[in-house]
Amino acid sequence: MRQEAIARDQPLQRWQDYVVPQCWEAFTVEDHAVWDLLFARQVELLGTRVVSEFLDGIDLLRLSHPGVPELAELNAILEPRTGWRTVAVPGLVPDEIFFAMLSERVFPVGNFIRTREQLDYLEAPDCFHDLFGHIPLLAHHDYAEMTEHVGRLGLAAIAAGEGHRAARLYWHSVEFALAKEGGELKILGAGLASSFGESHFSLESEEVERLPFSVERAVNAPYKHDAFQPRYLVSASLDRTIRDVLALTPERLLAL
Ligand SMILES: [Fe+2]
Repeated sequence: MRQEAIARDQPLQRWQDYVVPQCWEAFTVEDHAVWDLLFARQVELLGTRVVSEFLDGIDLLRLSHPGVPELAELNAILEPRTGWRTVAVPGLVPDEIFFAMLSERVFPVGNFIRTREQLDYLEAPDCFHDLFGHIPLLAHHDYAEMTEHVGRLGLAAIAAGEGHRAARLYWHSVEFALAKEGGELKILGAGLASSFGESHFSLESEEVERLPFSVERAVNAPYKHDAFQPRYLVSASLDRTIRDVLALTPERLLAL
């Protein structure tokens, strides 16, 4: 929150100004134990309820290695594969900084992890959400390209004073999307993949709307920051989401 205030005062800041050392050595034995608990619990909970490319990414990036991942080690696998790399940040970054990072294939990762008392709820995304939720699919070439494109769309929308359009697109494609795979409903979004409570809720609750994904619907559908979503957009497939988002130009985003 404090950073948002800084950014509004000094809008010319570069994304590099928000990067901090991960200080992996500073994670305690308890921090690593919390990661291991979250990881084991979430993998078991998800099972095959998530798109298969997500599980491929977990394996490719060796995220099942015990303890909080060291970003340098992760980048040594991820960057040669898709050109994406992770950097540590102290917390949420402003939208324009976030989209600028994405547009350069840089993903910000919180340099902290929740406590054992906060396993199921936290106010700001920690490294478990960022790494477990987001990074596996960034090992997928086409998804990697799509996420860079979302960054460029975000910068264009903010420059036009229409940042909410890109935020909604991001929310309904990258964070809270569902997708069909082999005729079954699967989790696609990072916010769902990393959530203990909402992952099953999004697939199974009968109290929410599930509507077909389109970029037009995504851009016009409000979302909730602080509660389970009242509606989820369901894509015909991961590839379809990627194709639809990549086909979206900044001009069309502003006109939808
Ligand atoms: Fe996220």
